Amino acid sequence: MVAAPEGTVLILGATGRLGRSLARIYPGAVLVGHEVELTDGVAIRSVIGSHRPRLVYNCAAFTDVDACEEEPERAMAVNGHAAGTVATACAEIGAMLVHISTDYVFGGDRNGYTEWDPPDPINTYGRSKALGEARVRSAGGDWRIVRTSRLFGPGENDFASQIRTRSLVKPVVPVIEDEWSRFTYLPELAARLPEVVSAPVGIYHLTNEGTVSWYGFARALVPNATPVRGRQCHRRALRPRCSALLNTRLRPMCSWQEALSDYIRCEDEQVIR
Ligand SMILES: NC(=O)c1ccc[n+]([C@@H]2O[C@H](COP(=O)([O-])OP(=O)(O)OC[C@H]3O[C@@H](n4cnc5c(N)ncnc54)[C@H](OP(=O)(O)O)[C@@H]3O)[C@@H](O)[C@H]2O)c1
Repeated sequence: MVAAPEGTVLILGATGRLGRSLARIYPGAVLVGHEVELTDGVAIRSVIGSHRPRLVYNCAAFTDVDACEEEPERAMAVNGHAAGTVATACAEIGAMLVHISTDYVFGGDRNGYTEWDPPDPINTYGRSKALGEARVRSAGGDWRIVRTSRLFGPGENDFASQIRTRSLVKPVVPVIEDEWSRFTYLPELAARLPEVVSAPVGIYHLTNEGTVSWYGFARALVPNATPVRGRQCHRRALRPRCSALLNTRLRPMCSWQEALSDYIRCEDEQVIR
């Protein structure tokens, strides 16, 4: 838990995975879920204008990568244009905005991306999040963009929990071996996000250290994971081959193996962090 900064903290997307973890870090925060529609500019301005927070975290997003291909207009509206509306509303009252983005703003044709590399998304979700980043940057306020990837945490319905569940009921669990990125442990990410508040305006990368495939991570979790190629899976959206986010600006997070050990301990003891 961090000492409450002077003034109110407001979390958008507070019912999502990251929003819930962040709410544990800021017990006094104003929590805003989907009851306030992100694409409703009047509603967004009203909630930000009435609470007059000092700091806003925007964790709200349309995060289903394949569904974004089917609903590109919704993706652009929620992840792109609405991020700009939030940024403008924050700028109007002098609030700092910490906006959450993704490794999928990158195309994945190299082994890693720094904070300074230009986005080159290959799917609708990535394009919509890249638009959101551009809108936040051009709104003229006090902003930080934090890119992260492959979130997992105790008590969540995520890749890690799905692999564990499938492993118990199936003899083998097929997992993609040719897509690499970095996993990010939600309790650690949430605890580290307040650091960017005292960092300069700009883009930051926060993930656990070490690049690994879906299969490599799954194999560390269960004994019966078996490798398959991405092209064998029927998915609407293209995926980057390797979208690892390289952190060159902040103190590194722990390795994904250390994070996974803590995750397993918490899951087995049913501890929510
Ligand atoms: N999950 C990952 O592995 C991952 C990887 C890289 C980056 N990120 C980024 O990290 C951030 C948080 O992701 P997450 O996994 O915590 O997301 P999540 O669990 O899908 O939660 C998203 C939140 O946004 C809300 N929301 C969605 N559409 C909305 C709309 N139109 N109006 C208002 N609220 C809306 C959701 O409410 P409802 O559920 O009620 O709709 C929920 O509270 C996002 O910016 C995402 O792009 C996530």
